[in-house]
Amino acid sequence: MPGPESPRARRIGAGVALAALAAAGTAVAWPWSVDMVYQPVLKPGRSPAWRPPLSAVPWGDPDPPVEREQAQGLEAPSPADETSIARGGELFQIYCSPCHGADGAGAGPVAKVYVPPPSLLVGPNVGRPDGWIYATIRDGGAIMPSYGMAVEPGGRWDIVHWVRARQREVPPPPPPGGAP
Ligand code: HEC
Repeated sequence: MPGPESPRARRIGAGVALAALAAAGTAVAWPWSVDMVYQPVLKPGRSPAWRPPLSAVPWGDPDPPVEREQAQGLEAPSPADETSIARGGELFQIYCSPCHGADGAGAGPVAKVYVPPPSLLVGPNVGRPDGWIYATIRDGGAIMPSYGMAVEPGGRWDIVHWVRARQREVPPPPPPGGAP
């Protein structure tokens, strides 16, 4: 009898392997070559819609899609307390300071190579309602990119609160015509 390592045994082994491969390609389907067929799929019109798992988190924006002009009436759902302002400051440094500057006055490093943004601390922005700033963060401006995907609604209001707090720190401009 030839031993397991003999050339004949190897030839037989190779023959069996080849036969198995040939069979797999033609008649016999190996379990792993069909298992994509047997999977839970929705059959159109025949299966009920799947419910999301209980742990699923809604992705997208809870706000109705409105224009910035319409969003002016939006009001912050949470108070402008210390926690909110502090968090708004952190978010502002991450997302807004590259253009608007760390203090919001408009001289961020990107401002030199991009369209220089206005100061958020003086000018028309001061008189605009909170909802305007909120909507600008969410949807962007005429040129400013939108940050709605980056900052969730609570964070946007935190930023609004931080901007308002900074605006209150800026001394009012001198009255026209010099000091009274
Ligand atoms: C890539 C640069 C860039 C970044 C980052 C950026 N902005 Fe702006 N922003 C601008 C420019 C440019 C304008 C002026 C043109 C416009 O309105 O699109 C502007 C305008 C604004 C205005 C309107 C000012 C007005 O007088 O109406 C607000 C409010 C504002 N930005 C807030 C933010 C806040 C808050 C962030 C961070 C979430 C932010 N911006 C991030 C570039 C930027």
